[in-house]
Amino acid sequence: MRDKTILVTGGAGYIGSVCTELLLARGYHVIVLDNLKTGHRKAVHPKAEFINGNIGNKSLLGRLFNGNSIRAVIHFAAETLVTAANTQPQSYLANNLVQGIHLLDSMLKHGCRQIVFSSTAAVYGEPNDVPIKETHNTNPLNAYGDSKFMFEKVLKHYGNAYGIKSVVFRYFNAAGCTKHYGELHNPETHLLPLILRVPLRQSDYINIFGDDYDTRDGTCIRDYVHVSDIANAHLLALEGIEDLNNPTYNLGNGTGFTVKEVIATAEQISQCTIPVRIQPRRPGDPAVLVASSDKAREQLGWNPNYTDLESIVESSWAWHLRHKDGYD
Ligand SMILES: NC(=O)c1ccc[n+]([C@@H]2O[C@H](COP(=O)([O-])OP(=O)(O)OC[C@H]3O[C@@H](n4cnc5c(N)ncnc54)[C@H](O)[C@@H]3O)[C@@H](O)[C@H]2O)c1
Repeated sequence: MRDKTILVTGGAGYIGSVCTELLLARGYHVIVLDNLKTGHRKAVHPKAEFINGNIGNKSLLGRLFNGNSIRAVIHFAAETLVTAANTQPQSYLANNLVQGIHLLDSMLKHGCRQIVFSSTAAVYGEPNDVPIKETHNTNPLNAYGDSKFMFEKVLKHYGNAYGIKSVVFRYFNAAGCTKHYGELHNPETHLLPLILRVPLRQSDYINIFGDDYDTRDGTCIRDYVHVSDIANAHLLALEGIEDLNNPTYNLGNGTGFTVKEVIATAEQISQCTIPVRIQPRRPGDPAVLVASSDKAREQLGWNPNYTDLESIVESSWAWHLRHKDGYD
């Protein structure tokens, strides 16, 4: 079973739940470790084994690694709210960095050497060149981005010194849903689920932060990558990890859409007018964040299926219509 058992941290969260679903569909045995701080018990696929616990709990990890033949860890668990990270850096650094190191140490102690890690486009800060390549300067502008970037560095050192094999994915904006699993954060800070609250009659309008950027309609441009495409990349990483040289890959669609374009697409798909309120720009929001994912395409053979905004928004709308009260 060793080749087939994967520990998914954060598997009760948005991206982790979708990746778990895909792993199970491909015949893997999945153990989800999640403290349910922001995740949902019902987002854990019924065929996955669920452990309610913390990634930094060494005795729990010891029992987990001793009792199971775990081949690899896919590490999604993290605190992810950018604004909270700046007011509570201690919590972000403790969770995303220190507890992550405990996880790595437990892996080493029990002979598990493979890890796929969820990093973020926030490691780049304000970009100089778009589309952003992995070789772009890194300059995280908040404690969240820093915590992820520092863990990337830890992985390099653990790779060089102890033979840990890692694949780091820097996601741009994860979006979209599968039939059963979707995006549900509290508080929600991501654009698409916030927009969809209006046609779902859970909000009266959507805020646009800045409409005077130097872009085609004045609103920020972002790269939305479907969560199923992200999950697929993780499967490819697992398959290739032993032969790869601890790489870092961007995961993005390669096409950017403005906030107004996302709203217009949501209006068209939900058949509902979505009122907007223009607010001042938020500090630290770059005008354009679009990924070059050529490296993942070339080295991993990753080929995203959802490249158009309509299909991403459609999948999200369908899930939210079915889950108006979330997972309850
Ligand atoms: N959603 C995005 O657009 C996006 C973009 C870039 C990077 N990421 C990264 O992808 C990963 C998943 O993001 P998401 O949107 O699914 O977030 P999420 O909040 O939905 O999921 C994170 C999960 O981790 C769990 N968790 C947090 N700390 C834990 C701990 N110490 N021990 C055990 N479980 C813990 C939470 O309960 C939650 O279920 C995160 O690492 C995030 O930084 C996400």
